[in-house]
Amino acid sequence: MEKKNILTGIRPTGRLHLGHYFGATSNWVKLQEEYNSYFEIADVQALTDNFNNPEKVRINVREIAIDLLSIGIDPNKATIFVQSTIPEIAELTVYYSNLVTMSRLYRNPTVKTEIKQKKALFGNSGESVTYGFVGYPVSQAADITAFDGALIPVGEDQLPLVEQTREIVHKFNSIYGETLTVPEHYLSKTPRIKGLDGNEKMGKSLGNAIYLADSEEEISKKIMSAVTDPNKIRKDDPANPDICMVYYYHNVVKNPNVETVCMECKNGSRGCVACKKELISSMMEFLKPIQEKRHYYEEHPKEVDKILLNGSRVARKQAKEVMKRVKKSMKIDYFEEEI
Ligand code: TRP
Repeated sequence: MEKKNILTGIRPTGRLHLGHYFGATSNWVKLQEEYNSYFEIADVQALTDNFNNPEKVRINVREIAIDLLSIGIDPNKATIFVQSTIPEIAELTVYYSNLVTMSRLYRNPTVKTEIKQKKALFGNSGESVTYGFVGYPVSQAADITAFDGALIPVGEDQLPLVEQTREIVHKFNSIYGETLTVPEHYLSKTPRIKGLDGNEKMGKSLGNAIYLADSEEEISKKIMSAVTDPNKIRKDDPANPDICMVYYYHNVVKNPNVETVCMECKNGSRGCVACKKELISSMMEFLKPIQEKRHYYEEHPKEVDKILLNGSRVARKQAKEVMKRVKKSMKIDYFEEEI
């Protein structure tokens, strides 16, 4: 049986943190074994709200590539590619833009939330909302369909975008004939990771992220200021680990000693400072193999470039095939020869 295609992407706007890792990318490492996987570094999408900061996007394309390689994405099994190297994605975006109404885009829950956040940042005029930004779900539909993406591994916040893609695909197929693969979402089973500050979400903009590349010093600083049970005042007060972010993270990084941590916290024989120090060392232990690989790729930037270049070539070949089908269906395949 032929392997199904997986397509998913990430915006290169910063390095990967533990939220990305547990919520999404650690899953990609497993999925690459079973599926024909395409992992897109979505620089074009990142530019929709960073168009005035191209340097940031450029730097983070390589940072994300290094992060993905460091966590175990294997370029011999999966295709890592850069979105802007595939002009067919931009081309498909233009054709799909006829198949979606403005009001449908404004009703997209993900877009709606993001517009609200923008208005909170830049005022209510709406001037910060560009055509490119409102249209990014159309471009994401192009990302997905250009690779015949059948399964789309995403977090919950991305479900409306996969739904939007399905609508576009159905509309395309009903007007022009069966051409595009209908995608399905593949929800990550791991729940969203909380921040060390107790926030329900870990995020760069929330300032509570632990990055895969963080040094021991940075990790120590972050863990030392983590939220613990506020009722524990003295070192030997018994406490409730269920409301302690340090305990929560002992579980996240799978400290083998976690049952002792829990018991000692409950019976008051463990102080928070000692507990945090233990977490720092478990965290570093957890990050060690990832950071060792990162170090290797940082020392071999040419190798990273080669992986991205090869991946982009493989991806482009696939996108060209889909483009050919699309043009034929839309009756805009005027010439056999390439122009
Ligand atoms: N929108 C996704 C995010 O912000 C990134 C992304 C771009 C993506 N293209 C995609 C996700 C295609 C899934 C499929 O994280």
